[in-house]
Amino acid sequence: MPRVFSVANQKGGVGKTTTAINLAASLALVGQRVLLIDMDPQANLTSGVGLKGQSAPGGTIYDALTGDDPDASSFVIATQLAGLSLIPADRNLTGAEIDLVTLDQRESRLRRLTAALRDRFDFIFIDTPPSLGLLTLNTLVAADAVLIPLNCEYFALEGIADLVATLQRVRAAYNPQLETAGVVLTMYDERTNLGQQVARDIREFFKDLVYVTVIPRNIRLGEAPSHGLPAVLYDERSRGAEAYVALAREFLAREAAPAAPEQLNG
Ligand SMILES: Nc1ncnc2c1ncn2[C@@H]1O[C@H](COP(=O)(O)OP(=O)(O)OP(=O)(O)O)[C@@H](O)[C@H]1O
Ligand SMILES: [Mg+2]
Repeated sequence: MPRVFSVANQKGGVGKTTTAINLAASLALVGQRVLLIDMDPQANLTSGVGLKGQSAPGGTIYDALTGDDPDASSFVIATQLAGLSLIPADRNLTGAEIDLVTLDQRESRLRRLTAALRDRFDFIFIDTPPSLGLLTLNTLVAADAVLIPLNCEYFALEGIADLVATLQRVRAAYNPQLETAGVVLTMYDERTNLGQQVARDIREFFKDLVYVTVIPRNIRLGEAPSHGLPAVLYDERSRGAEAYVALAREFLAREAAPAAPEQLNG
């Protein structure tokens, strides 16, 4: 059963961080042991769980990636939600794209870390930056499966060919087991024809890979990060929070199913 998931889409603002936080928190709420790893120099994930500026005894993900023989456990900190842990990021991570280039095993540095931690958690979710650079590559090499959020807006599918090509390259060169866990439709506005049309188009393209659960556009999901809380804690009754709880249920059912979903091969 896959344990390590890269939440990836090189398009900005499609709901990667929101999905990572709220799916992870929803799973923790039902008793799963979950680790979030922030691989985005914007560190939105870290601030979204209220830990902006915090580092673990070993430092941040930057130190974990660039260190010689780091002790993986020393980068993990607890969040205020039982069962949910974090490896934080800060602005230093911006430099990692460059600093990693001269290090050996530069694309598998994160894999080394997750390999040492995977037995301690039921699920590890890695948030990625909006690019297909070395940081995102590290997440795809480390992951068992990729989770792709797509926002239900006009250009949703633009750039997807690049992501698919990257996944194929990663499978060929580094990580043949990499699966596509699924596609999450985010920021869905049922009141607009455009939202409905885009959601239909995405389902036609990705078929069964798309989760049945759709995340609506919901103001609480946008507000929660400024309170340093997952939406499922900030306002558990909001439609956004309820949608992520439903997604977590569907995610668990899909991951427990014996047949792996079809691969995304373009
Ligand atoms: N379903 C939603 N409804 C309303 N607002 C949302 C929703 N999902 C995310 N947001 C808000 O939209 C913005 C972008 O979302 P998010 O940060 O999750 O995207 P991202 O893909 O991680 O962005 P980036 O590429 O910059 O890392 C954030 O301000 C977030 O709070
Ligand atoms: Mg983000």
